[in-house]
Amino acid sequence: MKNISIIYWSGTGNTEKMALSVADGAKETGVEVQLKNVSEATIEDIKSSDAIALGCPSMGSEQLEEMEMEPFIDSISGEVNGKKVGLFGSYGWGDGQWMRDWVERMEEYGAEIIGEGVIANEEPGEDEIEQCQELGKDLTK
Ligand SMILES: Cc1cc2nc3c(=O)[nH]c(=O)nc-3n(C[C@H](O)[C@H](O)[C@H](O)COP(=O)(O)O)c2cc1C
Repeated sequence: MKNISIIYWSGTGNTEKMALSVADGAKETGVEVQLKNVSEATIEDIKSSDAIALGCPSMGSEQLEEMEMEPFIDSISGEVNGKKVGLFGSYGWGDGQWMRDWVERMEEYGAEIIGEGVIANEEPGEDEIEQCQELGKDLTK
């Protein structure tokens, strides 16, 4: 394992906090970590990374954010086969349906999903921060 990319969308900062924690966990293992807002990410970031973590809150109605994250995920559908992928994101009032759907979708693209997708109700608490750090570590194994 040499490098990991963490790519996220966050409107009010909750998912961004999770992204920073995934980065902290991964950095502990000594790998090179690239953290990017999805607006700056390209398909090359996926191609050149040994593992990726993707973060997005539940938006719309149990969906990925539709202007940037949804098209990005669509664009990488052919690039994640056999790749280690971790998912995380914040939600407000649902029960995590968007995350279950997202995990299933990435598995259909052939990704090796690490964990189950870390979810946090609004701002991540201590438990969720820890889960994100663990995800970062697990992605580097
Ligand atoms: C337009 C909009 C749609 C949302 N739709 C959902 C939803 O379908 N289910 C849900 O659980 N939360 C929903 N939320 C709540 C957000 O997922 C929640 O506030 C989350 O913490 C935002 O994460 P962020 O700070 O990373 O942007 C929605 C929020 C907005 C603004």
